[in-house]
Amino acid sequence: MTTLTTPTAAESGGSATEVFRQSGKLGAGADISVERAQALIGDAIKAMNDLAERHALTYEEFNIFKAWLIQVGEDGEWPLFLDVFLEHTVEDISTRDRQGSKGSIEGPYYVKNAPTLPTPATLPMREDEKGTKLKFTGTIKDVEGNPLPEAVIELWQADEDGYYSQFASGLPEWNLRGRVPVDAEGNFEINTIKPAPYQIPTDGSTGKMIAAANWHAWRPAHLHIAVEAPGHQRLIQQLYFPGDEHNDDDIANAVKPELMLDPQPNDDGGETAVYNYRLDKL
Ligand code: DHB
Ligand code: FE
Repeated sequence: MTTLTTPTAAESGGSATEVFRQSGKLGAGADISVERAQALIGDAIKAMNDLAERHALTYEEFNIFKAWLIQVGEDGEWPLFLDVFLEHTVEDISTRDRQGSKGSIEGPYYVKNAPTLPTPATLPMREDEKGTKLKFTGTIKDVEGNPLPEAVIELWQADEDGYYSQFASGLPEWNLRGRVPVDAEGNFEINTIKPAPYQIPTDGSTGKMIAAANWHAWRPAHLHIAVEAPGHQRLIQQLYFPGDEHNDDDIANAVKPELMLDPQPNDDGGETAVYNYRLDKL
């Protein structure tokens, strides 16, 4: 077993940029109309100029901004930065019309093609994986209450040290990641560990910006979930744990009251958390 090292911004940022490149999302958008492009680009540039005017931006600050933008790209941190500071609004807008379960941001650390494990499943983990055992169970139904036996629930999360496999060195490739098809009644059981709070890498350009503003870089502990079923909208979600000191000041603004778990001690010396899903039709 390799030893765990602190993930650096270059490591997690570079990997996040690479994952985005390979996700097929790059290069999309050829169908955005000129009118739409003008509205978005025009307003973005106006917002920057309004800000400069409002705060009487100096040349020194202008150059710091330029240097910082260059550095974010060199660190590969655009996925991290945008997912922390903008994705929550895009997510809210895109799921506004849903009746079913609430979603949340995807963040930069989803990786396709995680191992598929039958329910009851145990996520791939190290023999000595640290952390409180967590049994996560529930049922996946449509908004009318019919079970969806063809649904698949996918989970990815940080370990007890706050690190994601494939974005920090020393972790097995698929550690704490898995896809779990539900049973014939739409039920799933996933055995894992409780994740730790996650801190955005502090040594990169996003971390430096956060430090310059004297903010903290923490996200509360969370499970990342994706749920899909034929004929239904894919749900991307995060679930949180009561009592986390960052539930109320998540740097990524991605906590919602509907996403709070209520884990209870179980007979295995761990905790059980239940979450029942409702998926909207396509
Ligand atoms: C980021 C990391 C996360 O784990 C997450 O859930 C959201 C955003 C980030 O570093 O950008
Ligand atoms: Fe996360």
